[in-house]
Amino acid sequence: MSNGLAIDIANLTRGYGRGKSRVDVLEKLGMKVPSGSIYGLLGPSGCGKTTLLKVVLGRLIPDSGEVSVLGGLPGSKGCAVPGSDVGYSPQEIALYDDLSIHETLLFHGRLHKMSKAAVHDREKWLISFLDLPVSKRQVGKLSGGQRRRVSLAVGLLHEPRLLLLDEPTVGVDPELRARIWSHLKDIAAGGTTIIITTHYIDEAGQADRVGLMRNGALLAEGAPEELMKPHGHKSLEQTFLLLCRRKPRDESIEIDELGTSIASKGAGDNGGQVKENATKVIGELAGDWMKKDTSETGGDAIVGAAKVSATGVESESGTEEVSV
Ligand SMILES: Nc1ncnc2c1ncn2[C@@H]1O[C@H](COP(=O)(O)OP(=O)(O)O)[C@@H](O)[C@H]1O
Ligand SMILES: [Mg+2]
Repeated sequence: MSNGLAIDIANLTRGYGRGKSRVDVLEKLGMKVPSGSIYGLLGPSGCGKTTLLKVVLGRLIPDSGEVSVLGGLPGSKGCAVPGSDVGYSPQEIALYDDLSIHETLLFHGRLHKMSKAAVHDREKWLISFLDLPVSKRQVGKLSGGQRRRVSLAVGLLHEPRLLLLDEPTVGVDPELRARIWSHLKDIAAGGTTIIITTHYIDEAGQADRVGLMRNGALLAEGAPEELMKPHGHKSLEQTFLLLCRRKPRDESIEIDELGTSIASKGAGDNGGQVKENATKVIGELAGDWMKKDTSETGGDAIVGAAKVSATGVESESGTEEVSV
């Protein structure tokens, strides 16, 4: 790419449905991903990360805007994407339950025109690297975490130029997570471009570039240090929080309302207790965040933190973690 960018997106708009059932998801989104780098896409559940990856992959066609991936519009004539230049590990695991791990890798390897010997070599390495069970085990009989790792193996298998990893490290133990990041850094140094979405803020801080996404747009993107510097803050959490706070006040949701909204997802008669617990957790998390904030005080910090924390409560990865 002459401009050094593997992905260059401007004014991207994409939603779902039509008429009254239309949902706007991505709104005038811009994103720049340099070739041979790791881009960490960070944002609350429902902000549009998966939708964005699907546009980059060519599975969803943009409603409007400019999207260039490896030099072309995905799916257009002459563009290498979708195809063997890209490896995709989707958030929703899409594997054939009836196949063994070996058959799964062979199936995908053959689709990418790899020789059986090449698949065999990669299989040996991937099974050891990702702590997978013996390759004759049937995918349908694996645990959720093992299936996610098989899905990651499928994305890595053919050593594509572009890797799109949608929450590949959910539920992965910290030692393996560190190993995966170390490998991603190695292959990025060798020229592979990687976009990885994650709920783990610390993890995103290891990326070369981070995009902080909210409500279908990027609030900011840049190297983690570069993003944190202007705000005088020491962590990505605080930077994100500060950027969220810049949004107009009328978007704010008070803690009690958040409790109610979470309670409405709670089961029947137990709603009151759920609300109480949710409000308590949000309040505590917000308090924690505020304590860390040395430059500003007051309700804004609580409301901002509560909003971000609430998205963690609703996230797929459970209620325990503060995720954005
Ligand atoms: N196929 C679909 N049809 C309608 N709405 C969808 C569809 N897929 C996602 N959405 C909605 O789009 C929004 C963004 O979803 P998604 O891209 O999955 O966000 P994230 O990956 O950040 O959690 C959510 O409100 C979600 O409910
Ligand atoms: Mg998602």
